[in-house]
Parts: sequence; C-alpha cells; structure tokens
Amino acid sequence: MNEQDSTVTIRPATDADAVLFWRLWTDIETQRFTNTPRLDLPWEEHLHWFARQIDGGGAFVIEEEEGPVDDYSVLPGLPCVKRPVGIVRFDDDGGDLWVSIVLDPATRGRHIGRRALNQVAVLSPGRRTPGIWARIHRLNAPSIRAFEAAGYVCDRADGVWLIYVWRHTPGTREHL
Ligand SMILES: CC(C)(COP(=O)(O)OP(=O)(O)OC[C@H]1O[C@@H](n2cnc3c(N)ncnc32)[C@H](O)[C@@H]1OP(=O)(O)O)[C@@H](O)C(=O)NCCC(=O)NCCS
Repeated sequence: MNEQDSTVTIRPATDADAVLFWRLWTDIETQRFTNTPRLDLPWEEHLHWFARQIDGGGAFVIEEEEGPVDDYSVLPGLPCVKRPVGIVRFDDDGGDLWVSIVLDPATRGRHIGRRALNQVAVLSPGRRTPGIWARIHRLNAPSIRAFEAAGYVCDRADGVWLIYVWRHTPGTREHL
C-alpha cells in the first residue's frame, strides 16, 4: 500500500489504549533510541504512568483508514475501518513542549510518521506555544527523515542527541 491508499488521523488516547502504548514503548527499536530505556517495564507501573498521560491530555493514537485496495474489496454499506498504527505523546518540560512518536513496526517506512507529525501541531496540548521540540538519537535515520520531512529543523546537538524544533510560522497561528 502506498500513501495515496490510506488516510492518517490522530485521536486522543483512552484507557482502552493502554496495551497499545505498552507494546509500542517496549518495542526493541524504540528502546534502542530512547534516553530512558525500559525493556522490562512492569505492567502495573505502565498503567500508573499511562493514567497520568491520559489525565494530562498529551497522549494520542495514530490511526490509518485504508481505502479500497481493488474493485473486489469494496463492499457497499461496510464502514471504513480505522486501525491504530502508532502513538504520539507530548511532555511539557517547564514550558517547552516535547513530542515523541512510535509506529507499529509493521507500518514503518510508509511515511505514516511524517503524515502524523504534520498534524500534531494542531493537536498538541500546548498549541499556543511557539514551537514543538523533539530529541532524536543521531543514529535514528528514519526518525530524522520523518521529522525533517514534517518541517522540523535541527536546533543543536547534545551528545548523541539531536534537538529538533518545529516553529509556528508567523501569521499561521490563527489556524492552530
Ligand atoms: C521514527 C518513525 C516514527 C518514522 O516513521 P516512518 O513512517 O517509518 O517514517 P517515514 O516513512 O515518514 O520516513 C522514513 C524515511 O527514513 C528512511 N529510512 C528508513 N530506514 C532507514 C535507515 N536505516 N537509514 C536511512 N534511512 C532510512 C526511509 O526510506 C524513509 O525515507 P524517505 O523519506 O526517503 O522515503 C518510525 O520509524 C518509528 O516508529 N520508529 C521507532 C520509534 C522511534 O524511533 N521513534 C522516534 C523517536 S524520536
């Protein structure tokens, strides 16, 4: 499937997404490039953490709605199916808003990441902030590609981390 065959949307996470978040945060590739690796994250600990995320309003689920693959797959009257393919999270670090994103491993490399990142400025809980920040491991090539394609620019380096920022363009804030 390519980009034209699907629609990517983002919705606020709910309690029902706890398993999805646990599965994606403990994914090996995600842990490889996080600054707080926790491959053995206990479920109870995760539930407490996740409840705080939901309360804070900074947790979102990326969904993909697939269009018709071919003429035979279209059954009249059947609703389109949205399936969760990833998660987005915001951390408010004393006024600065930091974003992180993880896709289901099976859906990586199809530009879902950049399409989701293109939408997060509108959804972010700090939509009035002048920018959104991202900490990306310098070896995380797919992430760098996705963030740059979504308009993020590298602000500085901090050891193995590259600090990227997306800034509201003056004159466009009224749309956010
Ligand atoms: C990072 C992530 C969200 C990106 O989403 P994605 O939908 O896979 O990214 P995209 O398809 O938009 O872009 C990936 C790009 O990287 C390229 N890429 C993939 N693997 C690569 C590699 N090993 N080396 C170089 N480029 C690579 C792809 O070819 C694509 O390039 P293109 O722009 O020329 O098409 C996703 O890969 C992911 O969930 N990774 C694990 C979690 C993670 O690292 N999150 C980010 C933390 S900051």
